[in-house]
Amino acid sequence: MIQLDINLPGRSYPILIGENVLQEQAGLLASYCPGGTVAVVSDEKVWSLHGPDLEKILKGLGLAYTAAIIPQGETSKSLAMLEKLYKEFFRYGLKRNHAVIAFGGGVAGDLAGFAASTYMRGLPFIQIPTTLLAQVDSSVGGKVAVNLEEGKNLVGSFYQPNLVLADTGLLASLPRREWLSGLAEVVKYAAIGAGSLPSLLAGPEAIRQNLEQIVYLCCKQKAAYVEKDERDTGERMFLNFGHTFGHAIEKYHDYQKYNHGEAVAIGMALAARTGQLLGLSEKGTAKTLMETMDKAGLTYTLTDKLSHIIPLMTGDKKNQSSEITLVLLKKLGSPILHAISQTELMHLLKEAAPDHAK
Ligand SMILES: NC(=O)c1ccc[n+]([C@@H]2O[C@H](COP(=O)([O-])OP(=O)(O)OC[C@H]3O[C@@H](n4cnc5c(N)ncnc54)[C@H](O)[C@@H]3O)[C@@H](O)[C@H]2O)c1
Ligand SMILES: [Zn+2]
Repeated sequence: MIQLDINLPGRSYPILIGENVLQEQAGLLASYCPGGTVAVVSDEKVWSLHGPDLEKILKGLGLAYTAAIIPQGETSKSLAMLEKLYKEFFRYGLKRNHAVIAFGGGVAGDLAGFAASTYMRGLPFIQIPTTLLAQVDSSVGGKVAVNLEEGKNLVGSFYQPNLVLADTGLLASLPRREWLSGLAEVVKYAAIGAGSLPSLLAGPEAIRQNLEQIVYLCCKQKAAYVEKDERDTGERMFLNFGHTFGHAIEKYHDYQKYNHGEAVAIGMALAARTGQLLGLSEKGTAKTLMETMDKAGLTYTLTDKLSHIIPLMTGDKKNQSSEITLVLLKKLGSPILHAISQTELMHLLKEAAPDHAK
């Protein structure tokens, strides 16, 4: 097991990472729930696979609990579902010294976290992330939110958990697409932070074997950005490497064709190529990044027209001269910010991949 402490002004909390950490450190759940009662928020699939184990743990600790089980998928991150949670918390008699446990991927984490941050003006909150994406990204950093029809994560807050238990053993049951989606975020950390991370991603077997260390190194990087920039006003932007393109690709397909990591992988390849074409990246940077993605089993070919994607990258679709700030790579481990107009970006990438121009 590896422990990472997140230190923020006025408060700190541990992230415990490792295979079987949920069983081994179960006792901590009781110490973070002084009132002896918890509300678990999980989705139907996670609950059917891993709920019985968690229930056994909670019963063994003598904790009273209710399980609020939400349907799988992004549509559960809604105001309607949030209201259902509040009502369930009320029905169960949840008090301010009771705790909320998010047991699932980023959807359960974001929804449960926002409910915990607002119900009775805030309850203790514990994250038990069960997807790779949630372990390396969404459970770290304290952003919690729900979506509106008008857009994702529009209603939310910053609310740090009291404890994160990232049990890498829970990831064994992840469907391959979800596993790869999380791996795309892992490669993102390798791209912007490098260190020993890229060498741990030498192939599927190496990744499985080094999983605990990989999750740790990703969380450590995210934590460092969060500690410097908790409210996401500056440096935390580097965490968006591949995301400006990626979000546009997801949005173009109405979030149906690609999951987040699949779109981010394509976005990272495009961003790496952009840096290379602008002469801002050291020779071979894009190639090394793509080799890392190959080894991880990620695919990253853009199959959409650039003319469909690029306009979706700014908030200002009509103004062709409006600039987009991209995270590019000077080399692996050295991200930089670069502002470029839509037109210039279009011309640049068109030369590299003319068949994607129109
Ligand atoms: N708060 C943040 O900083 C932050 C950062 C990144 C992403 N997010 C949010 O995270 C969400 C995406 O998270 P996600 O990719 O984890 O999605 P998710 O929570 O929908 O989980 C993906 C799928 O995997 C299933 N699943 C989860 N754990 C499993 C397991 N152990 N075994 C088998 N199946 C399992 C779920 O049932 C679901 O169908 C998005 O809403 C995104 O906005 C938030
Ligand atoms: Zn992401």
